[in-house]
This record gives sequence, C-alpha cells and structure tokens, in this order.
Amino acid sequence: MELATGSTTAAEGSATVPSTGSGTCQTVGNIHARDPVITVRGCNVHYGETHALKDVSLDIGRNEVVALIGPSGCGKSTFIRCLNRMNDTIEGTRITGEFRLDGQDIYARDMDVVMLRARVGMVFQKPNPFPKSIYENVAYGPRIHGLAGSRRELDDIVYGSLERAGLLDEVRQRLDEPGTGLSGGQQQRLCIARAIAVSPEVILMDEPCSALDPIATARIEDLIDEISRNYAIAIVTHSMQQAARVSQRVAYFHLGTLVEVGATDRIFTNPSHRLTEDYVTGRFG
Ligand SMILES: Nc1ncnc2c1ncn2[C@@H]1O[C@H](COP(=O)(O)OP(=O)(O)OP(=O)(O)O)[C@@H](O)[C@H]1O
Ligand SMILES: [Mg+2]
Repeated sequence: MELATGSTTAAEGSATVPSTGSGTCQTVGNIHARDPVITVRGCNVHYGETHALKDVSLDIGRNEVVALIGPSGCGKSTFIRCLNRMNDTIEGTRITGEFRLDGQDIYARDMDVVMLRARVGMVFQKPNPFPKSIYENVAYGPRIHGLAGSRRELDDIVYGSLERAGLLDEVRQRLDEPGTGLSGGQQQRLCIARAIAVSPEVILMDEPCSALDPIATARIEDLIDEISRNYAIAIVTHSMQQAARVSQRVAYFHLGTLVEVGATDRIFTNPSHRLTEDYVTGRFG
C-alpha cells in the first residue's frame, strides 16, 4: 500500500510503462501497487466508434482501496467492468491490453468466467439482491461453487458473511424473508455479504453509495474500511469526500485517459496534473 506522504510527483516518478496499446501511457504518478493483485497494462476499450478507454495501465494492490474518480463518461465503470469481464456481454465491444489477476490472464481462452467473477466480485450502484430470501442471497454463490460440504458449513459462511458485512444483527430473525424487503442501505450490505461469501480476492464497487442516505453511506464506508484488510477494493465514486475517507490511492480519469494516480492525500492537496487540479478544486466536472 502506498502511504499518504504528501510527496510531490518527483518522488513518485512518471509512469511511462510498456504498453500493448496504441500509444504511450501519459499517466502522471505511480501506477504500481506494492503488492498487486490486479495488473492492467495498455487497456483500450472501444464500444463501436466510441474509444472509451485509451491506453490505461494501473495496478490494484492487496489490502488497499483505490478510488476511481473523474467526470461522467470518462470510463470509470468501463475500467472496472474489464476486470471481471462484465464488458464481454456488451455487443460491439473491443478490448485490448493485458489484464492479470495474480499473474493469470483474465482474458485467457480457458478462464472460467463464473469463477473469475467470484474471485473479482462486484457491487453496483443500485443494490440488486436476488428475488430470494436473505439467507439464499448469501448462500447462492457458495452453493454453486461448492464451497460448503454440509448445511452447517453453509450456515457458517452465510452468518460469517452477514456479520462481516455488518448486517447480521439486523437480519438474524428474518433470514427467510426476501432480500428485496430490506432498506436500501441494508440491501447494499446484503450485496456486499453476497460478494464476500465466495471469498473473493478483489471487490469492485461502482458508486455503491449513490442511492443511499448519509447514514447508510457512513455504514458502507466503515464497512469498506473494515473489509479492505482482507480484500483489494476498487471503488468508483463521484464524491471526493468519500474518496478521501475510504481510499489510500486515487486514480483520476478524464475522457478515457488515466491522467494521474497517487496517494489520496496528495491527489487532493497537491495534484500534479492541471486536469486533476481543475477537477478536485471543483473547476471542472
Ligand atoms: N454499453 C455501452 N455502449 C456504448 N457506449 C458505452 C457503453 N457503456 C459506456 N459507453 C460509453 O463509454 C464511455 C465511458 O462510459 P463509462 O460508463 O465507463 O463512464 P463513467 O466514467 O462510468 O461515467 P459515469 O460517471 O456517468 O458513470 C462513455 O462515452 C459512454 O457513453
Ligand atoms: Mg459509471
């Protein structure tokens, strides 16, 4: 994990990395994580004529939270969706570059995409529990992946995941009731419990709090802090306060380009790139 040092770019260096993409990566700052789980190099994504990501390279490290920020349409969601191949299903999408999870090629022909999505879990903007009971929402993944040998083991996984998602005390008496009957904030914690239940390595979060009130948001932020001790987390957010509260590193995207990456404190107090500065000071976006 990169510590917030308040250092300048000179210390972080400029990351001109070998690219498999079309040009030279112009990202300012250090794209590397100390202990990377995900490494992306020279990522280019086209949706038909739209060039949504341009030669993006970035690591996501173990036990760290990376916040992806930038104006609407800059490619944040596109980037995280590449990491568990959620873009595969969108017709006309062309993805090039190198994407690795623990050194393994995410886009290898023999990659089991269902397994990949268990290892790289995702939490969306709008909580999306399955139309099943609270228990079954969490039990579903462990069951299809054969993670529990008995009902007892399954119970342990379900209760443990709900506990880690900070939801168990609120739902212990109603595990058989539909997940969709919970409040928005509870549903989002249920979705986090569901992601955790299959022991992922990485959790991707795409604006996970934008449909929540400030109290539910604070609970999710506490939870992110708590679970980042065990997982690598990439979170897309439009709230710079949230990025400042939950992340150790920030990646600033602009029009499909990764403009700057750095320690959260530095990005918000002393950004190196003018575009980052304009955005974080509210002059743009
Ligand atoms: N399914 C799609 N088909 C075609 N173009 C798409 C698709 N999804 C995204 N795009 C385009 O790709 C670009 C990047 O979109 P993306 O959703 O990644 O941006 P974003 O940074 O997540 O924006 P927001 O903050 O509004 O969620 C945009 O120009 C968008 O219009
Ligand atoms: Mg988005």
